Amino acid sequence: MKIVYASRNGHVEAVIHNLGIQDALKIKEGTEKVKGDYVIFTYTDGEGILPPKVKTFLAANPGVKAVVSSGNSQRHPATYNFAADIIAREYGAKIIAKIDGSGTDHDMAEIRAALNLD
Ligand SMILES: Cc1cc2nc3c(=O)[nH]c(=O)nc-3n(C[C@H](O)[C@H](O)[C@H](O)COP(=O)(O)O)c2cc1C
Repeated sequence: MKIVYASRNGHVEAVIHNLGIQDALKIKEGTEKVKGDYVIFTYTDGEGILPPKVKTFLAANPGVKAVVSSGNSQRHPATYNFAADIIAREYGAKIIAKIDGSGTDHDMAEIRAALNLD
């Protein structure tokens, strides 16, 4: 399935890189288009909100099926990885993983298995 991601400071981008995904679409403006079903990887913003450009992208591209979100459990314990919860609730996507920063080896193995990357 197509992989789409948003990354502001590089954690999510590092995950995409670590998973060896080469043809992922990066959300830069939110105006990008993807055909059909896709999996989104995103960071969590503000007080547990979606990055605005991710919100714009999701509204225009209805095929989201699953989500991997990144957050920061130390700095944002009360809204940790809310991005995944919002995308699951509002768009019906399945939550594959919620990771801290760029995640652990264990997280990578779980995501690989969920996406059949091996
Ligand atoms: C302004 C700001 C607000 C954030 N708010 C949250 C939050 O509410 N919950 C959370 O889990 N992480 C939050 N984070 C942490 C980021 O989601 C986390 O660092 C993520 O790994 C960033 O991904 P990136 O490096 O790909 O941009 C916030 C970070 C910033 C800079």
